Amino acid sequence: MERLPFITGNWKMNKTVGEAIHLVRELKSAMSGIKGVEVAVAPPFTSLYAVHQELEGSSIGLAAQNLYWEEKGAFTGEVSPLMLKEVGCHYVIVGHSERRQFFGETDETVNRRIKAALTQGLKVIFCIGETLGEREEGKTFLLIEKQIEGGLRGLGDQEMRNIVIAYEPVWAIGTGKTATPEQAEEVHRFIREKLEKLYSQKISEEIRIQYGGSVTPENVKGLMNQPNIDGALVGGASLKADSFSKIVRFKEL
Ligand code: PGA
Repeated sequence: MERLPFITGNWKMNKTVGEAIHLVRELKSAMSGIKGVEVAVAPPFTSLYAVHQELEGSSIGLAAQNLYWEEKGAFTGEVSPLMLKEVGCHYVIVGHSERRQFFGETDETVNRRIKAALTQGLKVIFCIGETLGEREEGKTFLLIEKQIEGGLRGLGDQEMRNIVIAYEPVWAIGTGKTATPEQAEEVHRFIREKLEKLYSQKISEEIRIQYGGSVTPENVKGLMNQPNIDGALVGGASLKADSFSKIVRFKEL
């Protein structure tokens, strides 16, 4: 089954509005004419609208980095799915390990966020991944299974069509230590098998699974050559047009 590769740039808490506009202009020119790969960028909330306007007419998609599950109301500091839709988001990243680690997200709150995003027609990049301690204790698969079951609880086949999974081993994020293509593939294959058990073979074959954690122009090709790796969620290397566009053009490397 052919799955369209999907590369997303997660800018995290980087780039002012001015810097975001500058980067996206560079990206548009560096990526013109590119085919056979889907690309999205995830700027901070404050830059979403400006980046949306810059992206008008381009094939680069827009993603937010988080959302809250209520539609509106007294939830100081939060942003609703409807608000993200309005500023032009197509995707939202949910359950990133930094949210789980620093902001108290659990499988349950991740699940509520995913459901709320889907209700508003946003597609979801659902992040999962083990810490170094969990890997060393041999708990990687157990943990991945728990995150998948908890995060996707209650979702039907139709909703699964709007989910992308990002496998991001926490020990590889921002550390320069990428998982080897074989290490990543082993987990990606496990995720696909789990999806087949929970849903169907068809769904498991359709869903794209991105790898994230110190992806660079140097290692992207080896990762993308693996049969179950369908894309990348890129942090550090997405902050410069040069490195991000090289990653997007991984087929030409
Ligand atoms: P990194 O981040 O590429 O800087 O390791 C990836 C991510 O956290 O999405």
